Parts: sequence; structure tokens; C-alpha cells
Amino acid sequence: MISLTINGKAHELDIDPDTPLLWALRDELNMTGTKLGCGMALCGACTVHMNGSPIRACSLPISAAAGAKIETIEGINSPAFQAVQQAWRELDVVQCGYCQSGQIMSATALLQTNKKPTDAEIDEAMSGNLCRCATYHRVRGAIHQAAEKLGGKV
Ligand code: FES
Repeated sequence: MISLTINGKAHELDIDPDTPLLWALRDELNMTGTKLGCGMALCGACTVHMNGSPIRACSLPISAAAGAKIETIEGINSPAFQAVQQAWRELDVVQCGYCQSGQIMSATALLQTNKKPTDAEIDEAMSGNLCRCATYHRVRGAIHQAAEKLGGKV
């Protein structure tokens, strides 16, 4: 039995401890907002937060997530997330949408630790999130807009 805390709620899962966190989220807990992309921690579609930091859920065994605070796109609601969500809508960032929950989770993690990121800091923080629709320019613009809106509150 593995105990996980996801979006503030405790869960007990009777599955193999080597199961990737992504499968626990999607198949056991029906949280399908976190996507499977490459399955090798290379594309960022499966990004969630563990203790506030972005991690790739496709490659993290649930045993490594036990006792940690996990947040997913379904549950995160920090001021940084709200500003990111609003900027994403205003700048119409999304194209096909597949990569976007991962993009949003990485952008939120960045703004939770860096109130006014530069272009270089944004590019570095977002470098693990690939977008086959090439929305990178709008992602960067939306992160700047969200940072402005937050005005130092994260
Ligand atoms: Fe289509 Fe990023 S919006 S993959």
C-alpha cells in the first residue's frame, strides 16, 4: 500500500511501488489532465509539482512520491497558477493543447520561485516542455504577462 497526498487529499493505493506516478494519477485516480507524451521524461507533457517543484510524472515511481505533496493541473490554485491561467487565456497560447497542462505546471512553478523572470530564465525553466505546435513565443509572452499581473505576489 502506498500513501500519496495529491492536491491536498490523501490516497492509499494498492499497486506496485515501481508504477510511474503518471499511471497512478491517470489510471487509478482518474486525473487525466496530466498527459503522457514520450514516457521518458523528455517532453514535459506529464509535468506535475512535487513539494512545489516541477517533476516528470511518467518517470517517477510512486514509491518516490510517497509522503510528498503532489499537485496536478486539476488541483493547483496558487496565485501564480491563477495569473498563468488568465494570461494563457488572454494571449490565446494553446494550439492543439496536448502539451499545455505540462507547460502551465512548469510556468507556475517558475513564477512561484521567481517573481520576475527574464527571457533567459523563462527559456531555461521551460526547456523541458516541448510543444509540437511551437507555441513557445506565446508561452514566453504569457509568463511575462502573468508575472506583471502578480506584481510580486506569488
Ligand atoms: Fe500542441 Fe503544444 S499546443 S503540442
